[in-house]
Amino acid sequence: MFHEDYAFFSSTSRYMALHFKAFADQVMADYLADDDPLVVEMGSNDGIMLQNFAAAGIRHLGIEPSQNVAQVAIDKGVKTITEFFGADLARRIVAESGPADAFLAASVMCHIPYIHSIVEGIRLLLRPDGVVMFEDPHLGEVAEKTSYDQIYDEQTFLFSVASISYLFEQYGLEVIDIEPQTTHGGSMRYVIAHQGARPVSPKVAAPKEKERSLGLHLPATHDRFRQNCENSRDRLMALLKDLKAQGKRVVGYGATSKSTTITNYCGITPDLVEFISDTTPIKQGKYSPGAHIPVRPYEEFVRNYPDYALLFAWNHAHEIMEKEKAFRDRGGKWIVYVPEVAVLD
Ligand code: TYD
Repeated sequence: MFHEDYAFFSSTSRYMALHFKAFADQVMADYLADDDPLVVEMGSNDGIMLQNFAAAGIRHLGIEPSQNVAQVAIDKGVKTITEFFGADLARRIVAESGPADAFLAASVMCHIPYIHSIVEGIRLLLRPDGVVMFEDPHLGEVAEKTSYDQIYDEQTFLFSVASISYLFEQYGLEVIDIEPQTTHGGSMRYVIAHQGARPVSPKVAAPKEKERSLGLHLPATHDRFRQNCENSRDRLMALLKDLKAQGKRVVGYGATSKSTTITNYCGITPDLVEFISDTTPIKQGKYSPGAHIPVRPYEEFVRNYPDYALLFAWNHAHEIMEKEKAFRDRGGKWIVYVPEVAVLD
């Protein structure tokens, strides 16, 4: 999947650029030692995060197996190697550049089936007082919001604080801080260090307790989640069929990976959703996986506004609503399905 034609360029979202600037600023302010620190990012994509370290003259290394996005980073002056991370590469980096002060990843850890090799690599790469910081969608958010579209082909894991703590403890590492994030519809940022190397923040306790009170460890919680998914699907399909019967035009907004789960699980076909608008050139002119809904350039959405836009990129809702005032002003309506199926007038 992460080959020379990876279809996702992080920098297509302005908000994400700001998000990663703030992330980088926090790393620089709170965690970097003075003596020529090294920052390593796994899945560095087009350099959206590391460009901030490059600009500050900080030693950095991006590890990005997808050649096309890695090239964009390299062209921006972000040092990047096109490889997959694991214990072997960690040893090589230590031999060539020394240990890392910070190891970063955003929406990457959850994509990797061979997670134990990653954590072993981190253990080998990290300085004794170094930190790991990564963020991923959180199981509790998905269960609470019925955002079942976070479950798709690339997402091998949906982590919780409990599962992350359990995983890293097996490698002598511990969670020292936690910060809930609004990105990707509710993510968790974990800060991890070698056991005993840094103080554990009191902030770690509350999310752990919340997970227990949500019953994330109980099968009944997940039975309820399944029921909520089925209800959500039934409502969305009823709405789309009703709009079709009324002769309304519906266009999808954002050919997200997530939407692949929605279209296939719900059975959304091109007669219900005419096309999906997306600003990413590599996705345009193709079809959505399985459901075969055409993906067209954003300009086609603007040229002939539909009656309804189905917000597949709901994780960018704030940015999109701001950008698409004209669509609404001309009578266009949004269909959303997280946390509930609804039409926004
Ligand atoms: P993304 O947030 O990465 O979701 P996923 O991880 O589920 O793929 O994808 C957002 C997609 O939406 C991406 O293909 C770009 C597209 N997009 C637009 O077309 N217009 C926009 O204004 C925004 C913010 C995104």
